[in-house]
Parts: sequence; C-alpha cells; structure tokens
Amino acid sequence: MTYGRAPALEEATLKTRITKMLGIEIPIVQAPMGWIARSPLASAVSNAGGLGIIETSSGDLDAIKGEIAAMRTLTDKPFGVNLAQMFIRDLPGMVDFVIKNEISFVTTSAGDPSALAPQLKDLGITVFHVVPTLRGAEKAIAAGVDGLVVEGAEGGGFKNADGASTLVLVPEIAKRFDVPIIAAGGIVDGPSMAAALAMGADGVQMGTRMVASAESPIHDNWKQSIVNGSEADTVMVNRHHRPAMRVFASDKAKALEAANEPAALDIDAMMGTYFGGDMESGFAMSGQVQGRIDTIRPVADVLREAWDDCQSVLRTLGTAAAEGSISA
Ligand SMILES: Cc1cc2nc3c(=O)[nH]c(=O)nc-3n(C[C@H](O)[C@H](O)[C@H](O)COP(=O)(O)O)c2cc1C
Repeated sequence: MTYGRAPALEEATLKTRITKMLGIEIPIVQAPMGWIARSPLASAVSNAGGLGIIETSSGDLDAIKGEIAAMRTLTDKPFGVNLAQMFIRDLPGMVDFVIKNEISFVTTSAGDPSALAPQLKDLGITVFHVVPTLRGAEKAIAAGVDGLVVEGAEGGGFKNADGASTLVLVPEIAKRFDVPIIAAGGIVDGPSMAAALAMGADGVQMGTRMVASAESPIHDNWKQSIVNGSEADTVMVNRHHRPAMRVFASDKAKALEAANEPAALDIDAMMGTYFGGDMESGFAMSGQVQGRIDTIRPVADVLREAWDDCQSVLRTLGTAAAEGSISA
C-alpha cells in the first residue's frame, strides 16, 4: 500500500490523550537510554514537538543533574525524566532533585511502581510506569500511575526475557485498562506508529531509531551497525540471567547467548562501545527494528515524517474502509 502525504500539519494535526496530557504536538517520546538520553538528544526531540526524556540508568547522578539543568537552557518545551529505580544508588536524593526542579513528567522503570508513584502524584507530577507484561501493568495500575509505557520484547535494551511482542502486549493491556498508553518496541515510522495507535496506544516511544540519529552522542560505529544490521542481527544476552538485554549481535554477544553464560555489565567495557566504537568491548543495545533503519537522520526529520505518515496511513485506511475495500 502507498500513502499520500497528509494535509499540512497546521490544518490537520490529530490529538491524542498523550499530546493533551503532556502538552506536546507530536505523540512521540524519546526513550530513556543510559548515557545517550542526555540534553543534546532530549532537547532536540522536545524542540521538534515530541517529548525528550533524560535517563538515570547510567547511575551517573551528578552528570544527570547537570543534564536536567541544561534542558532548561536548551528548550522551553516539555520534557521528562526516567527514574530507573534499580540503577539509582541514591533514589531519595534523585527523587528530591526531580521534585525541586519542577519536572512535570516522570517515567518509572526497573522497580516496584508503588515505591514512587503515590509520592510523585501527590505533588502533581504525571507518572507513567514501564511495563513488559500484563502482570506488570496490573501492579502499576494498582499503584495509581497515570499511564503506562508498554514495552514489547523486540525493542532494544533491558527486557523481560519471556516478554511478548508489542503486537501482543499493547492490545492486551489497552483492552483491560483505560489509561493512556505509550507503545514501545519496534516503532520507527508512520506505518508502525499508526499500528500502535490502532492497537489502543495514545503515543509511541522510540529507542533504536533515536540511537541512530544525528543528535545521538554515541560512536558512529554503533550508528552504522544499526544502519547495516538486519532485523535478525540482535540477540538477547542474559536470557536466563539478569538483566536480560536485547543487543546488537556482535561476536561476543552471540557467543555468550549461545553458551547461556551470564554477561557482566562492565562500565569501562560499555564505554568502549558507546564512545570508543569498539563493538566487541561492551554491548550495543539495539532492537529488531534496526532492520528498518537505513539512514542516520536529525530527530526533527524523523518525528515530522513519522507523524505526517502516521496520519496519512490512518486517513487512507479510514477512507478505504468507508469505501469497502482495504487493499488496492
Ligand atoms: C541503547 C538503549 C538503551 C536503553 N536504556 C533504557 C533505559 O535506561 N531505561 C529504560 O526504561 N529503557 C531503556 N531502553 C529501552 C527503551 O526505553 C525503549 O523502550 C526501547 O528501545 C523501544 O524499542 P525500540 O528499540 O524498538 O525502539 C533502552 C534501549 C536502547 C536501544
């Protein structure tokens, strides 16, 4: 199927619960990613009309506090912070910093949602919890979160090794809970974004696509591995250990997965990959959707094209359905 261009955005922008709740124009959230989701990338996404998020999973709290402060100088648009609970040594201190800096949107992940959601919500902060399973969604809803980031197992990064794909998880959770959902995992462009909205999501989160952007700070070798890699070139290391991670299929990652050996998260080795470009040193977290990425682009172009095309897909399908025939 081909998609015509959407009418000019000014005339036709769709709203979703996510655009309204977060005060953004385009319902695309940039994934929180250790060392990568810092102010240059996050401010570019917010300035382009999406929502930039600052990470905490690096555990590098002093640098992160500086990045949050820098966001105020780089954008006047909304942005958020991810609190990756398991990775933050001084969680109360970090929560305090988020509150004092008047962050209005927080995603919590890698921990018990009831540990933070009530406190943050009492202060008027919008809280979404990242969930990889229906059971996780039930717990987050019981903790009173405002919404969910529903993360399919095809996505890059830390994963539930037994997790289902976005195609299974999003409609399963959307059917049961009437809260805004941000779908993550495998989403990269208009058609995949439209599919997420059709399944009941109100917005999407992109990780791998953001790694391969012009504003991403990581070494070009990693960006090129995404551009050159197929959808089959990822592996789940630590499938039977912790933490399970979907990463680029380097020789080291393939060998560890095949031997079912635990993969250690050595920071120096990770930095060798992230900023030194040695793809065999640490692990380059990457999703299956890398097979659909063949250029490194500015995030503003990615966001604008994905949202324009998403709206075109939805309108084309709506018109075709009204006319009684979907395939041309
Ligand atoms: C390099 C990388 C690092 C990531 N780090 C985190 C993280 O620190 N916290 C988190 O909640 N998710 C993390 N993720 C998962 C993303 O938030 C996102 O859900 C996922 O990338 C979506 O799938 P996609 O890669 O197919 O877009 C990471 C993903 C990647 C690719």
